[in-house]
Amino acid sequence: MTKVLLEVCQGSACSEVSSGELLRCLQAGSGSRQGQQGTELQVVGTWCQGRCAIGPNLRINGRPLSVSGPSDARLVLDLALEHEPQAG
Ligand code: FES
Repeated sequence: MTKVLLEVCQGSACSEVSSGELLRCLQAGSGSRQGQQGTELQVVGTWCQGRCAIGPNLRINGRPLSVSGPSDARLVLDLALEHEPQAG
């Protein structure tokens, strides 16, 4: 099974732009999409990822991504499932 790790910044700057809600949306959404396309999603929070001015920030298998907020959770899950496979 392919594994994809989503790391959502929970540092102070990203938290001010709803990264906590983004993390919760991704965790909730990943639960219903586990196993799709043979992919296992893991969603975790992290400390500051060093890109505070353009958050909320996350990484998909180590690749940095900035989004507009929790409303992009579905898009992030689509990207994670469709474009970021990593041998696991
Ligand atoms: S607080 Fe999120 S990148 Fe710094």
